[in-house]
Amino acid sequence: MSRIYSRIVASGSALPERVVTNHDLELMVETSDSWIRDRTGISERRVAAADETTCDLAERAAQMALQRAGVKASSLDLIIVGTTTPDLIFPSTACLLQHRLGADECGSFDVNAACSGFIYGLSIADQYIRAGNAKRVLVVGAETLTRMIDWEDRSTAVLFGDGAGAVILEPAIEAGILSTHIHASGAHADLLCADVGVSRGFREHEKNAGLHVLMKGNEVFKVAVRTLGRIVDETLGANNMDKSELDWLIPHQANLRIINATAKKLDMSMDQVIVTVNKHGNTSSGSVPLALDEGISDGRIKRGETLLLEAFGGGFTWGSALIKY
Ligand code: UT7
Repeated sequence: MSRIYSRIVASGSALPERVVTNHDLELMVETSDSWIRDRTGISERRVAAADETTCDLAERAAQMALQRAGVKASSLDLIIVGTTTPDLIFPSTACLLQHRLGADECGSFDVNAACSGFIYGLSIADQYIRAGNAKRVLVVGAETLTRMIDWEDRSTAVLFGDGAGAVILEPAIEAGILSTHIHASGAHADLLCADVGVSRGFREHEKNAGLHVLMKGNEVFKVAVRTLGRIVDETLGANNMDKSELDWLIPHQANLRIINATAKKLDMSMDQVIVTVNKHGNTSSGSVPLALDEGISDGRIKRGETLLLEAFGGGFTWGSALIKY
């Protein structure tokens, strides 16, 4: 019996309208445009309006993907939303999204894997389709991470942005997603976290109830470069593929220096890398599908090409997907 693959039939994306530039941040915190650009590659990011939520962005990205696929939401078998900034504690953002799209009764759930949320979601969707348990799956990565930013903390305020990306997956005889790989290590949860929650409690005396991203950036940076180097090797090895066979790297967009390091390891020129960090900042789960959609929409990524997607984030979590687009 021939193998079934899952194939990306269409993608979509959504960004908030408001642009916050590095110069805007210079007025809010002790930083400079040149420091931010030199150390991260970021020039600007999008910030959601006060009444704009993760689900709003997810809905726009999903509608675009559905429209491009030419399919109705009612035909979806499963909705997975990678997010670490859900609208509510429950129902999940995926359930809210399902109702808005009119995809009644299909299984819908969120995946919280921080910046690796979309890759985790893609991996789960791939298992469902390959097992024959779903025929059409919507996978979204959507975040409003700026809601968790302490705008007085320059070590994090300059890094993050809001946005969402989505893909529709369907079964295919030809590849398709070749493999996905997900990992986690909770040993260094303290290096990148938001250390409040329902069970531990919120620090009521702190502004915004202590709901802030905390990061020891320098230490995270070193682990990220090392770990992403390992996962690209693992992914190529699992497929007996040489790095020269890759057409595109679609990396998590946290820091241009991390992206450069992974591209260098793969001997890929920066012309083969989709970079959005300069204008989006780090949109966590949104970053990989936003970059993927940009590359597909502007015609750089073509059918039949080989794509390597990777992400690394709080947890730590990390993952990859090798795709014949
Ligand atoms: O998406 C999840 C995964 N996240 C990541 O992968 C992020 C990984 N980390 C990073 O991207 C980088 O570590 C940062 C961009 C966060 C920081 O860059 P860095 O080169 O590691 O800088 P650093 O933390 O070592 O700080 C260097 C200096 C420090 O000053 P001193 O101690 O040398 O005097 C900081 O206080 O830069 C200072 N600094 C800033 N200066 C201006 C830190 N943040 C800023 C800032 N503006 N915004």
